[in-house]
Amino acid sequence: MTTINFQLSDGTQQVIDAEDDVPLMEAAVDNDVPGIDGDCGGMAACATCHVYVDPAWQEKVGEQKPTERSMLDNSFDVKENSRLACQIQVTDDLDGLCVEVAPS
Ligand code: FES
Repeated sequence: MTTINFQLSDGTQQVIDAEDDVPLMEAAVDNDVPGIDGDCGGMAACATCHVYVDPAWQEKVGEQKPTERSMLDNSFDVKENSRLACQIQVTDDLDGLCVEVAPS
C-alpha cells in the first residue's frame, strides 16, 4: 500500500492508502476522494481526474504523456504541475505523494 495525500478544494486533506499498480484516479475513486470522478474510465478524455502534483514530487511522478497533454490543453485551470490522475500509476516510489485536486 502507498500513502497518498490529497489536498481538497475546501482546504482539507484526505489521506488514502492506495494499492500499488493501479492508476491514481482509480485509487482516488475507490476511496471517495471528492473532485476526482474519473468519468472516462481512465482514457485521458475527460479531465475529471485533474490534479496538481506538489512540486517536490514532480520529478518522481514524471512528465505528462502526449495524449494527456492534449486533454489538458483543452481543460480549465491548467498549471505547469497539472496531471491527469488516471495517467499516474501508483507505485511504492510514490509513498507520501502530495497532490491537490483541481477545481472542477
Ligand atoms: Fe478521464 Fe482521467 S479519468 S481523463
